[in-house]
Amino acid sequence: MKVLRQLLLLPLLAALAFAEDNSIELMGVPRCGASFTEPNKAFKIDLNSNANCVWHIQRSENQTIRLIFSYFKFNPSSSCETESIKVYDGPSSNSSLLGQVCNNTNAVPVFQSSSNSLTFLVTTNSVAFARNFFVFYYFLSPETMIKNCGGSLTGPNGTFTSPNYPAAYPEFTYCVWHIQTTKDSKISLEFQDLFLELDQKCQFDFLAVYDGLSTNNGLIGKACGVSRPTFESSSNAMTVVLSTDYANSYRGFSARYTSILPPPPQPDTSLTCSSDRMTIALSKAYLNSLGYNETHLQLNDPSCRPVTTDQVIFSFPLNSCGTTKKDEDESITYTNVVTISESGNIVTRKRIVQIITKCIMEKNSTLEVIYVTENNVIQNTTSVGRYDVSMSFYDSGSFSSPVLESPYYVDLNQTLFAQVSLQSSDPNLLVFIDTCTASPQSDFGSVTYDLIRSGCNKDDTVVTYPPLEHYGRFRFNAFRFLRRAPSVYLQCDILICDSEDTNSRCTKGCVSRQKRDISSYTWKTKAVVGPIRLKRDRRNAAHLESLARTDAEETPTPQRYSFYTLSLVVLISNVIIVAAVVLKYHIKCLSGPGYQKIPSSY
Ligand SMILES: *[C@@H]1O[C@H](CO)[C@@H](O)[C@H](O)[C@H]1NC(C)=O
Ligand SMILES: *[C@@H]1O[C@H](CO)[C@@H](O)[C@H](O)[C@H]1NC(C)=O
Ligand SMILES: *[C@@H]1O[C@H](CO)[C@@H](O)[C@H](O)[C@H]1NC(C)=O
Ligand SMILES: *[C@@H]1O[C@H](CO)[C@@H](O)[C@H](O)[C@H]1NC(C)=O
Ligand SMILES: *[C@@H]1O[C@H](CO)[C@@H](O)[C@H](O)[C@H]1NC(C)=O
Ligand SMILES: *[C@@H]1O[C@H](CO)[C@@H](O)[C@H](O)[C@H]1NC(C)=O
Ligand SMILES: *[C@@H]1O[C@H](CO)[C@@H](O)[C@H](O)[C@H]1NC(C)=O
Ligand SMILES: *[C@@H]1O[C@H](CO)[C@@H](O)[C@H](O)[C@H]1NC(C)=O
Repeated sequence: MKVLRQLLLLPLLAALAFAEDNSIELMGVPRCGASFTEPNKAFKIDLNSNANCVWHIQRSENQTIRLIFSYFKFNPSSSCETESIKVYDGPSSNSSLLGQVCNNTNAVPVFQSSSNSLTFLVTTNSVAFARNFFVFYYFLSPETMIKNCGGSLTGPNGTFTSPNYPAAYPEFTYCVWHIQTTKDSKISLEFQDLFLELDQKCQFDFLAVYDGLSTNNGLIGKACGVSRPTFESSSNAMTVVLSTDYANSYRGFSARYTSILPPPPQPDTSLTCSSDRMTIALSKAYLNSLGYNETHLQLNDPSCRPVTTDQVIFSFPLNSCGTTKKDEDESITYTNVVTISESGNIVTRKRIVQIITKCIMEKNSTLEVIYVTENNVIQNTTSVGRYDVSMSFYDSGSFSSPVLESPYYVDLNQTLFAQVSLQSSDPNLLVFIDTCTASPQSDFGSVTYDLIRSGCNKDDTVVTYPPLEHYGRFRFNAFRFLRRAPSVYLQCDILICDSEDTNSRCTKGCVSRQKRDISSYTWKTKAVVGPIRLKRDRRNAAHLESLARTDAEETPTPQRYSFYTLSLVVLISNVIIVAAVVLKYHIKCLSGPGYQKIPSSY
């Protein structure tokens, strides 16, 4: 129905527009220097080169004047210096300049006098070119002043209409709507209905849309007739102008604007998971881009506060700040959530951002995962860390004094006490010794001898102690390897499980059949200790040492000092033998067992 009606109306509109156009023709082109005294007037100005024409508008009534250049065509190669329309706020070109229009004016210029007279001067340069202008003015009498029109719109979305919509808009309407949305957004403006006097150049009644808050520049578009145009701003401000003349009023328009939010900023966050702590760092710039600062951040436990430098840093033990722990098939996962939001019950239009941080202690490494959830966008960031595990020999079953000498000289059949220690702030973890092998080579390359495999003792002398939080312990007697090999290394595969999980691999002990019970593997690493040598070989040590020192000087390695302590964290391979023989036996007493992190090659 509506479409049909519009189709029927179009020829009518065109005819009306034509009629108006004709009436303007009939008025004729006003002479250069003419004065106008009518309360309103619309006219065309056609000029060619070298024009310098002044027009005056004046009336005796104490009224101001609105002057609109709804169409202008200058010589396109002209500049404002050579070709322009200058508008003066008074009876002559000696009056103060209200503004000017020239080829680069990106607006539908509208001027308003402060008193009852206006003067405008049109200057053209020497280039032969047909310039055209369409001008209309009217005196603003109390009757022609439109009230309650235009205004300021600041919500995230909104609607507005022309005065009287859907009834006909008044004559001499001039309404300005300023739309402003939140910083960083843009504005999309849609006309559900627009019906203004039809004219190809929209010279009579028109709608002008500007990018920004000014009506002097940034014209995005002009509309009239029957259409449903849409416009988009480049920033968070837009201005809409409705201007109508004295004749041919229609429905006007109904418009709706919405804010277009920018895509969420890329999160700039990092997570570090050590055996002890979770450390979450967020850049202040990222927070600011979301419109927040550190006071808006909280962990699961809101009492845990961050430290702020150029970053906002939460660093806390794994078992604190509301961190949750989950023992999954192949990993133990620690999760905390950083929530970014306005505190209190302030209703906010801002997004609530959640950064889900997970330390997944998996296999031989720690996987760190950050998810950012925000309007259902989830972004993952991952990086790698791991649990710290070390292994040492102790001098007795009380496991109170670690053996600090290296190599560790032992008697044949001497009982050796080994302990694997996990350094973690999470108290609810078990350490389980899955497999231990001995080898004369630190890379466990050729010959190996099983002490423990899959939790089962493979050597008669092995005794394992029940798992104790953070410690895996066993003892064995110095074995026959030592008779043949100058040195022996010991390597253990360690599993770490959640002690609250009663069904974990750590609680199962010996799994005799070598079925691959992957799901029971919670966290796995390797620890290596060595070398062990027979005491009777000690007398050879001095000789070996001097040999080794020469070697070591040729290939200096930072790892060699680690053997003074006889405690290693994780397996490192080839450097070990070189390092081991380099030992200076007389410096064997260092204070306490030291742990040195070495990348695992497991
Ligand atoms: C014109 O209006 C102004 C205020 O708008 C007033 O001050 C002034 O006296 C008026 N002049 C005449 C001639 O009415
Ligand atoms: C004059 O205006 C036209 C249309 O806006 C434009 O294409 C042209 O580049 C302008 N000329 C100059 C010299 O700025
Ligand atoms: C403008 O002012 C100058 C002197 O200031 C005067 O000579 C001239 O006649 C004035 N022109 C008009 C149009 O009033
Ligand atoms: C407009 O904004 C209001 C909040 O001011 C919101 O509730 C509504 O969903 C928005 N409507 C649209 C269409 O965006
Ligand atoms: C953080 O933002 C709140 C308002 O949301 C403000 O009161 C506070 O001063 C800001 N703090 C800093 C350090 O900028
Ligand atoms: C983020 O990681 C989780 C777990 O690794 C995965 O399930 C999810 O699909 C990932 N999401 C994205 C967007 O990559
Ligand atoms: C080794 O020591 C154990 C006790 O620690 C003893 O029972 C065993 O007989 C010894 N074996 C040898 C070969 O000396
Ligand atoms: C973990 O083990 C895999 C093989 O299982 C290996 O490729 C990777 O380098 C190891 N990572 C670390 C940190 O040791």
